[in-house]
Amino acid sequence: MTLSSFAACRPTRVSVIGAGNVGATLAQRIAEKNLADVVLLDIISGRPQGIALDLMEARGIEGHDRYITGTNQYADTANSDVVVITAGLPRKPGMSRDDLLKTNAGIVVDATKQALQYSPNAVLVVVTNPLDAMTYLAWKVSGLPPHQVMGMAGILDSARFQTFIAIELGISTADVNAMVLGSHGDLMVPLPRYSTVSGIPITELMDTATIERLVERTRHGGAEIVELMQTGGAYYAPASSAYVMVEAILHNQHRWLPVASYLQGEYGLQDVFIGVPARLGCSGVEAVLELNLTEAEHTALAKSAQAVQQNIHQAFNLLEQPI
Ligand code: NAI
Ligand code: 2OP
Repeated sequence: MTLSSFAACRPTRVSVIGAGNVGATLAQRIAEKNLADVVLLDIISGRPQGIALDLMEARGIEGHDRYITGTNQYADTANSDVVVITAGLPRKPGMSRDDLLKTNAGIVVDATKQALQYSPNAVLVVVTNPLDAMTYLAWKVSGLPPHQVMGMAGILDSARFQTFIAIELGISTADVNAMVLGSHGDLMVPLPRYSTVSGIPITELMDTATIERLVERTRHGGAEIVELMQTGGAYYAPASSAYVMVEAILHNQHRWLPVASYLQGEYGLQDVFIGVPARLGCSGVEAVLELNLTEAEHTALAKSAQAVQQNIHQAFNLLEQPI
């Protein structure tokens, strides 16, 4: 038998649009954890190609055979199982995520249209800020059913809360489960009652003032890093968070994760993408879990959703070409 008698298998493929800090780090995570082949696309000529070659040259050392391709052409992303949009500007010191609205809206709309033209059945994961509004825009232009589109933020915000809880208590992060809902911004809704250490709510382990301090640090987790770095924002934890979503989709894990999902009446909210616990599998968001919220938590989530809706409205007005 000759080798050529074997039919070639189609490897699982993830396209990452935007080869900046988040995109390049995500590509590295996906390849080096042997999850899928990666196509990395950017508008800057040579950048994705250089990163891809660098990652390819690490394959022997890292012990995987995943293919990483760098490109400026959307045709090279064809037949992707998952498309992750990280293209766009990050925040500068003093800038809010919402300041990014106009520039990133144009980029996200263009990237989504072009990527979906070549991968019409892909699951779409948006990372670009302002996250919840960008996810809505991407969904609108994608033509995909809402469950196939989602935004990454809740895993990152929850991971930050988890880290601060573990540091405060001097315990292993492995024993801490944290839950943050709502929009990815100052109005996010960390939920101490649903954040636990080995099943025990942190409300039984820390006083209110300490919890409030950790909640505030979580709310400003992104800004804290921007202030420290001055040029650009966080990308290691964001890339790890996006990886978790891509893995849950490609491995059909049915994981419950905080994800910006489309709501159609859940939590009393309509026609908005916002962070809620969602079950992720190969088709995307399989279900949204409705937690029992107190009145205060519910009000905070509604306020957060209202801000996202304003952002969506503003983004539609700012777009040069109507969608
Ligand atoms: P970066 O500046 O390092 O990379 C952005 C990349 O996008 C650049 O390489 C740029 O050339 C590329 N790009 C710009 N326009 C493009 C277009 N039309 N098509 C293709 N590529 C294009 O920024 P970084 O740190 O990677 O962040 C990317 C985005 O992700 C930002 O909007 C940032 O705010 C957001 N972000 C969101 C997080 C979340 O939790 N949702 C966490 C971290 C970052
Ligand atoms: C973050 O939270 C900038 O949204 C980004 O780090």
